[in-house]
Amino acid sequence: MINKSIGFFDSGVGGLSVLKEACALMPEENYIYYGDSANAPYGEKSREEIFELTMRGIGYLMSNDIKALVIACNTATSAVIDELRKEVDIPVIGMEPAIKPALAAVEGKVLMMATPATIRLERYNNLLERFNARERVVNLACNKLAGMIEHNVLSHSNELEDYLAGLLAPYKNTGIQGIVLGCTHYVFIKEDIKEAFGEDVLIFDGNRGTVNRLKSVLEEKGIKRPSDAGKGAVILNSSSDDQFSMKTYSKLFYGK
Ligand code: DGL
Repeated sequence: MINKSIGFFDSGVGGLSVLKEACALMPEENYIYYGDSANAPYGEKSREEIFELTMRGIGYLMSNDIKALVIACNTATSAVIDELRKEVDIPVIGMEPAIKPALAAVEGKVLMMATPATIRLERYNNLLERFNARERVVNLACNKLAGMIEHNVLSHSNELEDYLAGLLAPYKNTGIQGIVLGCTHYVFIKEDIKEAFGEDVLIFDGNRGTVNRLKSVLEEKGIKRPSDAGKGAVILNSSSDDQFSMKTYSKLFYGK
């Protein structure tokens, strides 16, 4: 059991940022990644569509006999996690936007950037209620951004730069002290976001929190490989068979 892989799912490349963090913390584990790049982005689709696509991708990972599953996508987590947990008998870890650490670290307002679906769905709205955070959190539903990252992340194109400048302009000089990256794709353009915002802000993402949670769940269940077990294997899969997609995966994950 302990040698089985941990499955990672995302709509595309975003979850690779979470996988990288998991590999840094637990290099001894075996990992299998599935990004649904053929259907990305998810964030502008209906909940029903996101649900169906996510369940299909997760089905692929489950057929690989994984011991735990990370939904490395805020959008997919919001759409499926409660129902999925009832259906599978392995631990399922989802993403949670880093609202809590952001509110604890800054005194002023926090800008929450995420896909339209994440901002709209119940899970995130419950989170805001739970932390009584509505007054200090400014929501920014980013149409198109995940899709642009999926296709342009390696080039850091002018198109992306111009888009970010326009997107963030209305929030400048409004007392924003922190930005929460509520989509795993955005983690790859963290510096571009910081630069486009142009003010002194702290940036938060949920990757470390998710990976720490994964580690404790594996320990609690007694299914963690011992840290001296040697380096595990990593398999990257995309639903898109075009060469560009696989090149992007490899470049983002291995840096080459
Ligand atoms: N990476 C995803 C997230 O964390 C979604 C991007 C998308 O497909 O729209 O929300």
